[in-house]
Parts: sequence; C-alpha cells; structure tokens
Amino acid sequence: MTSAKINRMLASVDQLPTLPTIYTKLSELLRAPDSTVQKVSQVIAEDQAMAAKVLRLVNSAFYGFPKRIGSLQRAVVILGFNEVKSLVLATGVLQMFGKFKTEHGFDMDKLWEHSIGCAVGARVVAEAAQLSNVEDVFAGGLMHDIGKVIHAVNLPKEFVNVVNDVQETGRSMIEAEQEIFGFDHAETGQALAEKWGFPAKTVDMIANHHISNGSDKLGKEVAAVHIGNTLCSALALGSGGEKHVPMANQKAWQILDLKLSQLEPIMGKIGKVFEESVSVLRS
Ligand SMILES: [Fe+2]
Ligand SMILES: [Fe+2]
Repeated sequence: MTSAKINRMLASVDQLPTLPTIYTKLSELLRAPDSTVQKVSQVIAEDQAMAAKVLRLVNSAFYGFPKRIGSLQRAVVILGFNEVKSLVLATGVLQMFGKFKTEHGFDMDKLWEHSIGCAVGARVVAEAAQLSNVEDVFAGGLMHDIGKVIHAVNLPKEFVNVVNDVQETGRSMIEAEQEIFGFDHAETGQALAEKWGFPAKTVDMIANHHISNGSDKLGKEVAAVHIGNTLCSALALGSGGEKHVPMANQKAWQILDLKLSQLEPIMGKIGKVFEESVSVLRS
C-alpha cells in the first residue's frame, strides 16, 4: 500500500521538519475559548523577531495606515488572530525550508517563494469566492508542496531523477514521482500533515491540490488551493520545479462560482500581495 510505503519513509528519516514552537503555542491559544488579544500578544512578544515582523506587516504599505503602529496589541487587533497565525506559520516555514540544504541544484528558495505565492493566491481566490475561512486556505496553500521538501532531503538521489525527468519530458512532477517513487508529493505531504496533527481540512487541501483523484468530492478550499497553485505558477512567483504551468481543473473554477471577468483583478492582487508578503517575511 502506498501509505505504508510513505510511512516507512517518514519513520526512517532523521530529518523531519518540525513546526515552530510559537506556532503550536499560538494554535492552542487560538483554539481556547478564552483567548484574548493580550494573551496572543504575550506569546508573540516572547519571540522578538516575530514581534518585529508583526509590526512591520501592520505598518506595511498594504494596510496603509497614516500613523505608525507601535503597539503589538494594536497590531494584533488590526490584523486579527488568524492573520497573525498565518504570518507566524509562513515565517516558520521559511525557517524550515532554509534549514534543509540540498546539494543537487534544486532551488529551495524558489520553492519557498512558490509556497508563499500559492498561499497568497489561494487566499485571494478564497476571498473573491467569499469563503469564510480564508486563513485556513492560506495555510493549506503554504504547505501544499511540503512533500517535495521531504523528498528532496530524504530521497535525494531519486529526487534528482524526478527533477531531471520533469525537465526532459515536460511531464508533471506527480507523474514523474509516481513512476520513480511509487507515490507523489501530495501523498507525502498528506502523511506529514497528519503526523503534525493538522486539521482535516488542511490535510485535504495538501492531499488533493492537484485534484489527481478526480473532482467528485472537490471542496471549495481544495479548489482555491488548486487555483492558487495554477495562478502563482502562471505569474512565475517562485518555482515548484514544474516545467509547464499546471492546467487548472475546470471544475475547481466552477465550484468557486467565479466569473472570468474576476480573473484579471485576482491576478493583479496576487502579484501585489505576494511582493508585500515576501518582503515582510524576509526582513
Ligand atoms: Fe504540488
Ligand atoms: Fe505547487
């Protein structure tokens, strides 16, 4: 069984990424019914670099406040708990990707940019489709290709073969992975997300972002991540290692009930928010 194979791989590797403690703490706190701005601000304040990022984000051109916001508590109120959680996760993922050095020319930094691009893309699409849980969609987009990181680090030789195969044949990464590994990065990502105890919806977004198992039970969140992945690839925001821009599944667009006339403003917004997010996250 494929999942048994993946679990064996995950169990045997000594380099599994871990989620940053501050993210775990914040997630627990935000799940509690009595979470307050003060408690959330306290957790962030314990991590000075993170606190600085939250302030930089709230003071970025994107929010456009005329006066500088200097208090962490005010920043948390303005951004909202969920956006703060997204920022913390994105920062953690940046650190996680930075830790994994691969020796075979695969650009992890570009994959990180692609992940931010997909997260931003999925969120902008989710907002346009008026989904209620846009920050969950952001998290799903951010983690959608995490399986590639696991492969690059833990199956380096086969991973090079996959990367070269994609460049030579022009087929998609999951096709090459299925042939070379017998499983693909969406399945590995799913196994890791389950191990991390991510909510079922996030696991679903990671597992099905290519809609490779058909679109019968396609949810709106998965559709948003799928479209986010396609649009950020079309805009060339970072790179996930594919040779061609992946085709968008027609059903994903339909299920989100978006009009074709919305595509241009959506793409424009993704480009702008991406630039802003990358500059805040890298600072
Ligand atoms: Fe993917
Ligand atoms: Fe991707």
